[in-house]
Formats: sequence, structure tokens, C-alpha cells
Amino acid sequence: RKDQGWSALFSEPMSELVQRYTASVGFDQRLWRADIRGSLAHARMLGRQGLISAQDVADIERGLADIATEIEAGRFEWKLILEDVHLNIEAALTQRVGDAGKRLHTGRSRNDQVATDIRLWLRDEIDGLASLLAAMQLALLRVAERSVDVILPGFTHMQVAQPVSFAHHLLAYVEMFARDAERLADLRKRVNRLPLGAAALAGTSYALDRASVAAELGFDALCENSLDAVSDRDFAIEFTAFGSLVMVHVSRLAEEIVLWMSQNFAFINLSDRYCTGSSIMPQKRNPDVAELARGKSGRVVGHLMGLITLMKGQPLAYNKDNQEDKEPLFDTVDTVRDTLRIMAEMVGGAIDPATGDVDPKNPGLTVQPEAMRSAALKGYATATDLADHLVKHGVPFRDAHEVVAHGVKLAMERGLDLAELPLADLKALHPQVGDDVLSVLTLEGSLSARQVVGGTAPVRVREQIARHQARLAGA
Ligand code: ARG
Repeated sequence: RKDQGWSALFSEPMSELVQRYTASVGFDQRLWRADIRGSLAHARMLGRQGLISAQDVADIERGLADIATEIEAGRFEWKLILEDVHLNIEAALTQRVGDAGKRLHTGRSRNDQVATDIRLWLRDEIDGLASLLAAMQLALLRVAERSVDVILPGFTHMQVAQPVSFAHHLLAYVEMFARDAERLADLRKRVNRLPLGAAALAGTSYALDRASVAAELGFDALCENSLDAVSDRDFAIEFTAFGSLVMVHVSRLAEEIVLWMSQNFAFINLSDRYCTGSSIMPQKRNPDVAELARGKSGRVVGHLMGLITLMKGQPLAYNKDNQEDKEPLFDTVDTVRDTLRIMAEMVGGAIDPATGDVDPKNPGLTVQPEAMRSAALKGYATATDLADHLVKHGVPFRDAHEVVAHGVKLAMERGLDLAELPLADLKALHPQVGDDVLSVLTLEGSLSARQVVGGTAPVRVREQIARHQARLAGA
């Protein structure tokens, strides 16, 4: 068993099946950069503390640099027998530099090593995701900027409710993604703590300088309890919870895009590059990207369930169960990253990195204001405005509500919108109906009346856009 990095205690070789079952190298290789960074910081600290010689440190640095080059070039041979990324790299190091390689693991265990690697890796991915969340918000803002005066029906219960600005509708998603970004920044603080020094579970008798390792690796703090440091994966659970919420927000947006693309709405259009055809129906252009984004939310929510269940019932401290943390976590990062990238581009267009401008060949989704407008004119979306008009003329709201119901009934019987009823008929509804009632019943009148903070009046919507733009420019 010496080739596996353990003691001479074992007399029987591991079966092929057990090897395959227990090995993680097939998927944890992607931690190699973090593993090497962590090993370098650990080795340098061992050198500073006089626990290994300066020559050992130099040998380790040289060996690990070589290994990094090989892995990068795809020439490194990963061995299943060596179980995971950590043992593979350590064995390759010893093969190259001899005793110095064997000294690297002084005061360290794979338990604190793997926890460190995941946190380092995840921290860098978090920073990439933070930029993508900003890109997603900017994409929505680009469409919002040109859609303040585009009016569509707002729905409750999927029934026409009140008219809203399309920009206002998109800004609702900006708020959601802004909160996701806040959550991400907050959980990053808890990811960015250093486990190294916890060793297997109890800490170590070597005089390690944990703070200097943390500083070299850019960790904000140390994990303060060795048992906790090696055993909890709450930071990964928290991250998948964040990922689940992002995907739920994306999924709702994707669902709306799918609906809006349908001929029965025809509110928007997407570039061909985000659609696919049908092998049987020649007329089809299907919004596959949006549908997949909606569908992929399921796997991320599944990963959250997987990880949280993995943790439950594990006694302290490290258990091999934790090796199962990686695939869900990796797939969550990959899925959220790819989904945000593609959705930002599909909505807001592709940005030319040289100029920062939108590529005219890939401008993002196109808005069809006329279709939105005619949909907003169906379904008596301004009925509330008529009631509000009466209230402003002194009628109690509940009475006004009743009067308007009669008005809607009348309009329905005649197949007209409220605003299309003759003024005389409107005035006949109630003595307090004023001459200015028709302007109140237009879509524009309805929007511009909603000037409350957070409302859909164009002046408020323009303020929201400016506020988000300033926030994102500052970030
Ligand atoms: N591959 C293992 C994991 O991902 C590394 C830690 C293994 N530690 C141990 N004592 N077997 O969790």
C-alpha cells in the first residue's frame, strides 16, 4: 500500500472496485491550482518557522512549478491508485525532489488541505460570479433604458391587472440580482477563512504560523476551531443556496421570456442565435436557451438538497462523506456561471470588450411596443385608475370600486375599453366623474399617476435606472 501514501499496516491490496468507488481524482483534479498554491504557502511557512530547511523549500517550489507546467500542458499523469488530487501531486513532487517532497506534509493533513483547497478555489469563482451578476444587471438596464415609455400589462394571477412600464418590469429583476450579489459578497466572508493548521482534527504540535499562511493566500481570517475547520461544509451549502436563488430568479425571467416570445404574446423577439428550429415543423423558432436556463435551475436546487443532506448526521470531525461535496459544488458553479453569461448576452446583447459597446450583430432582445400596448388595452387594466379618480373627488374607495365594476360591465357588453366609452356614459356612472376622466383612463395617465416611491411612473423608473447605474459603476 506504500504507493497510496499510507503506512505498511495494510497487507491486502485494494480491489479495483473499491479503488474506483473511493477515488475522487477524476473530478477533484480541478482543484490542482489551489492545491499547489496552498502547498507553496505551507512549505514557505514551514521554512520560516525552521521546520524544514531553505533547501527543502527551494526544492518544493521547483518541483511544484514543474508539476504545474505539466498539468497545464495536459502532460501530467493522474493515477487512480493515488485516489485524489492531493496524493497525486504530493507523490509526483516526491518523485521529482525526493525527501523535500516527503517533508511537505509536516503539520498538515489532507483534511485541512482539502478544506483549504475548496475554499481557495470557491473564493476565486465567487469573484468571477460577482462580475457576471453585475453584467446581468447591466444587460437588463440597457434594455430598461430604452423601454421606460414602453407599456405592457402587468399581471396578477396571470390576469391583466394594471399597466406598467417594461423598464419597471425589468428593473424588478435588477433588484433580485442585486440582492443575489449582496448575498454572494456576504457569504464570501465565511468562505474566505483558512482551515490549514487544523491538521487532521485536533491541531498540530508543530509551531505553525497560521496567520502568515492566511496572509499569503489572501484569507481574511483563520478557522478558529480545528474540529470545525476540517468537518463543516456549511460554506458550500450556503453557496449552493445562493446559487439556487440566482437560478430561481433566472428561471422566472426565462419563463417570462418564453411566454413573451410566444405568438400569443409576441412582446419580444430574440436573435436567431438563441433559438433552435424543429426537425418536423418548418415554421418553428424555439427559445431553447431560455427554456434550458429555466430547466437548469432544477439541478442547482438539487445540489443544495444533496449537500445539506450530506452534512446532516455526520459526527465530528472529518468523514469521507465530505468527498461528496465536490461534484455538486463544481456543477453549481459551472451552471450558474454559464447561465448568467448566456442570459446576460441574450437579454442585453454581446459587449465588444475593446469598445465596451454592444455588438450591432448581437444586440440582445428586441421589444415589440405595439404588441405590448394592445395587450395592455385589453382586460380593463385602468379600472383601478377610474376608482382612484372617484376617490380623489371625494367618493369612499369601496363605493368607487363598486361604481367602476358597473362601468367595466358596460364596456364589456359593448366590446370597448373603458377609455373608449363615450364621456357621457362615463359621467352617467357617478356624479363625481369629472371631465378629465378620459386622460386618467389612458395607459400613460395610469403610469404617470403612480409616482409613489418604487412605483411605475416614468419619472420614478428613470430614477431607479440612474440609481442602479451609479451603484454598478461604483462597484
Ligand atoms: N479526497 C478527500 C476529500 O475530498 C480528501 C481528504 C481525505 N482525507 C482522508 N483522511 N481520507 O474529502
